[in-house]
Parts: sequence; C-alpha cells; structure tokens
Amino acid sequence: MRIVVLGLGYLGATHAACMAELGHEVLGIEVVPEKRAQLAAGDVPFYEPGLPELLKRHIDSGRLVVSGSYSEAAEFADVFFIAVGTPQKKGEYSADLQYVDAAIDELVPLLTRDAIILGKSTVPVGTAQRLSERADELAKDIDVEIAWNPEFLREGYAVNDTLHPDRLVLGLFGGGQAEAICREIYQLILDGGTPMIVTDPPTAELVKTSANAFLATKISFINAIAEVCDAAGADVKAIADAIGFDARIGRKFLNAGLGFGGGCLPKDIRAFMARAGELGAAEALSFLREVDNVNMRRRTRMVELTREVCGGSLLGKRIAILGSAFKPESDDVRDSPALNVAGQIQLQGASVTVYDPKAMDNSRKLFPTLDYAVTAVEACEKADAVLVLTEWSEFMALNPVELGAQVRERNVIDGRMCLDSTQWAAAGWQYRV
Ligand code: UDX
Repeated sequence: MRIVVLGLGYLGATHAACMAELGHEVLGIEVVPEKRAQLAAGDVPFYEPGLPELLKRHIDSGRLVVSGSYSEAAEFADVFFIAVGTPQKKGEYSADLQYVDAAIDELVPLLTRDAIILGKSTVPVGTAQRLSERADELAKDIDVEIAWNPEFLREGYAVNDTLHPDRLVLGLFGGGQAEAICREIYQLILDGGTPMIVTDPPTAELVKTSANAFLATKISFINAIAEVCDAAGADVKAIADAIGFDARIGRKFLNAGLGFGGGCLPKDIRAFMARAGELGAAEALSFLREVDNVNMRRRTRMVELTREVCGGSLLGKRIAILGSAFKPESDDVRDSPALNVAGQIQLQGASVTVYDPKAMDNSRKLFPTLDYAVTAVEACEKADAVLVLTEWSEFMALNPVELGAQVRERNVIDGRMCLDSTQWAAAGWQYRV
C-alpha cells in the first residue's frame, strides 16, 4: 500500500520507517528543511535505538522517500497519517493544535481523489470531529474520511512498540473505508495476535490521554508515598516491590524518584485538564493537578536535599549532575527533571557540571550556562555532591571507589534509586535518595 506520513519527528519518523518495514511504500513529509535533509540521507536527527538502521535500510531501498511537498503527498497516496507535534501552548495548559490544523488546511485542498486521513498525534477529545468538519469544507468534490489511530510508543523503545504494540486503537465516524484500510496496513501486526479496538473518534482520543494520565498518576502515587516514607523513615522501594506483586497493581511505573518529564506525560495531563474544563468536567480531573504538583515537588525536594547534603548552602559548591535526558535511552531533554534541578541549583550559587551519554548537545542548547563534561568521571572532579538524575546503565556501572578519588566530598544522591547503595556506602560515600 502507498502511505503518506505527515511530520517526521519522534512519532512520524518511527511510524514512517515502521510502515516501510511492514512492506508499504511510504512518503514522509517534513517541512523543516534541515531535518528533511538529514532524514533523506538516512540519518535520524535524534537518538532512538534501532531507528537509524531501519530508516537507512528503507531510504536506501527506495521504499521510504522524504519530501517537503504537500502536492507530492496529495499525488502519492490516498492514505495519510498525521504525526505532527501537539505541544503545550506557551503560558497555558491547553494543547497547541496549529500543526495538526495546518496539515489539514494544506493537504485537503490539494486532494483530487477520495482520501483517508488517520490521526496519530495526541489530541484533545473532539479534535477529530472538528478536523472532519474542516476537511469537508475544504474538500473539492471528493470524500475525505478522518479517523483517529493513537500511538502509544515510548521513546527508547519506539521501533519495537510500533511493530509490536500491546494494542491498536481506531476511532471511526462510520460508513467509510478506514477500518478496512487499517486492517490492511497493520495486517502483519494483527496476524501476530495484537488486538484492535475499533471505536468512535472521541473514545480513541480519550484512550490515549487516559493512558498517559494513568501512567503519570501511578508515578506520582509512588512519589507521594515516598514523601510519607521520608517522614516516617520507611523504604519506598520495598513498598513498590511489595504492592507490585499484587497483579491488580503491578510493579511497572512504580519507580519513585525524580518523577516524570519528557514531551508527553507533563503536557498531556495538562492538556487533558484544560479540555475537561472546556467540556464542563474540570472537577473530574482535578486530581491531575495534584499529580502534577507531586511531580514538581520531586524537583524542589532534590534541590533542598542537595543543599542539605552540602551543609545548608549551595553557594560556591561544585555539583556534578549525571544524566540530563528525561529518561535513559533517549537524548530528549524536553521538560527534563534533571535539567530543571541543574538550573535551580545553579541559581542558588553552585557551579554545576552536567554529563549525559547522549543528551549533551540538546542540553547545551537548552541550558547554555551550565558546565558540561565529556565523561561522568570528569563531571565529578572536585564535586561536593554527585547527583544521579537519569538512570543510564553507564552510571550504575560506575566504580564508587575510583570515583571517590575524584570528588571533594563523597556525597551521592540517587535521584532514580538505581545505584547499589551498599556498594557506594562501602566505598565511603554518604548515599541519599
Ligand atoms: C510516555 C508513555 O509511556 C507512552 O505510552 C506515550 O506514547 C508517550 O508518553 P515516554 O514519554 O517515552 O512515553 O516515557 P516513559 O517511559 O513513559 O517515561 C516518562 C517519564 O516518567 C520519564 O521521565 C521517566 O523517568 C518517568 N518514570 C517512568 C518514573 O519516574 N517512574 C517510573 O516508574 C516510570
């Protein structure tokens, strides 16, 4: 099948490469010229394990072509995936839908045959309905069917999550071809036993936002318990292990620590609250404000703990920060808890040196005033405290004895509860979580 993917960011580039992997002929549309040039050369402009190999293979074979032209897109196929970004609006909670709107506004007037547009981007409930009405107004003597097919991929596992999803979700207005087309597109995945939930568009939109809200709530739940553990002198990790054995609860997403960041969970729960408010259901999601508050408190608590470990003041102290990506196996620093903490600590008068295995360039762009080291060991030189804020396996493999010789004070704060505390304590470190 011939398929167009509109937008080649994390979501779109992965989706385009994976659709080619499923055997389809894919045209990917990217409007930013630098990104387009990189992708067309088979190069991925962000770190995602396994994606560069997949993308390059399909670019080289010609099954995946990259372009900036919507006219070419309209000519190429009758099935279009929207994979553009839906960031948080500046100074507001709601989602900025300008890129989704622009995709419809630019594409639909150019269409000369009936078409199916499948939304993958995370959008507020009601967006598919609005876009469908907009498409009807813009379409010239043709039928444009809009359906929503949300994506649940995680950064760091994007290729695997796309090719082997837990489930496929499809929201349809009914009476069109979208379900049959989707079954054809995803045939190999469906043959592998993946369930496809077919529903209406508002439900499909809400499946995505509900899933992310639940995940965020699970993380903030265990972080709230961590606050109580701090006060009571209890061990939150043991609690997570113990309650996680209950299959109704499950151990996943119960890792207490610095909390969630990234391009999805924080902005998605805020957009969800904003949309519920527009619908007159604000009260139903008021608990998400507390989920957000608990999450943000983890960052201020980390700054306070660092100050405490440094004897009550950060002025003139040297702080090493290991990890700046919002999570391991990613170079993404959007709403990175680690960089937020680094910035706050610097504001309190410390000199902060950051090291991350993959996110150095992105971190420098966002926080140019921090210092950056080329290795974890170099970052720790003469440090008064070492903060591990992203759980890269490289940091778990650090030798606390050797590192102890680099620092001024052997203080380590394990912001992701990922280090072997006994080993660090045995090497003379004051270990805190
Ligand atoms: C998330 C959803 O998991 C995915 O389904 C959706 O499509 C996009 O948003 P992603 O943002 O890639 O994916 O990262 P995820 O693995 O969910 O982690 C999000 C944040 O939560 C990270 O900052 C991570 O460090 C944090 N986290 C995760 C915790 O603090 N504790 C946990 O137990 C799990």
